[in-house]
Amino acid sequence: MSFSGSVRTLIEGARTKLEHMDWPRHIPTLTDRVITLRPLTSGDAPSVQAASQDPLTAEFTVVPSPYTAADARDFVDSRSVRVWPGFDLAIVDDTNSFLGLCGLRAEDDDAITAIGYAVAPWARGRGIATRTTRLLIEYSWQIGAVRVGLDAYAENAASRAVARKCGFIEEGILRSAAQGKNGRRHDLVMHGLLRTDPGA
Ligand SMILES: CC(C)(COP(=O)(O)OP(=O)(O)OC[C@H]1O[C@@H](n2cnc3c(N)ncnc32)[C@H](O)[C@@H]1OP(=O)(O)O)[C@@H](O)C(=O)NCCC(=O)NCCS
Repeated sequence: MSFSGSVRTLIEGARTKLEHMDWPRHIPTLTDRVITLRPLTSGDAPSVQAASQDPLTAEFTVVPSPYTAADARDFVDSRSVRVWPGFDLAIVDDTNSFLGLCGLRAEDDDAITAIGYAVAPWARGRGIATRTTRLLIEYSWQIGAVRVGLDAYAENAASRAVARKCGFIEEGILRSAAQGKNGRRHDLVMHGLLRTDPGA
């Protein structure tokens, strides 16, 4: 096969992958009128840093620790436009105050999405992660996903509660599957929600 032929094959392969879901070309904005999930902007960097320095976020996610101003700027710059293989969004309230971060990933090429989130410490305990997850589930169905996944470390009771409240089924535990901070390993609880599940 010629060089241009193999490049064409690669491009067609990528298109085929994208056609399983109607994955967006631009980062979407989603709202339930209480919270809005919107693309990150450079002005979010100080809030991203403040939220990501939190010990729980350090413990239960893969963010760098300590989380510097440069980490926040790099994150915001790289994620403010990237849509494939996933996109990240700022969670804000009706005054555009920063409440946290979330993301949606396309997993493999099987019409599956995966949700991730971290709510800023000052915004926790008032249903923000639950609202965020419901918006990302609804969006996943809109773009043609048949399954949404959500993984949480076994010790992350708050995140597992969010998954339960949003109708996810706990499907199993991958023992010692995640490398945490300071050489600590974590069991990973897999949650799944199918478009055909009751209440999905
Ligand atoms: C997990 C997290 C996103 C939850 O955000 P939140 O906006 O406070 O979540 P919600 O308010 O929607 O729901 C939290 C639920 O967890 C419950 N919860 C909180 N702490 C808990 C604990 N230690 N044990 C059991 N349940 C707990 C709350 O009671 C609430 O359930 P309820 O509404 O039935 O009372 C937030 O704690 C966080 O950002 N943690 C650090 C980052 C992280 O863990 N990200 C997820 C990685 S999988």
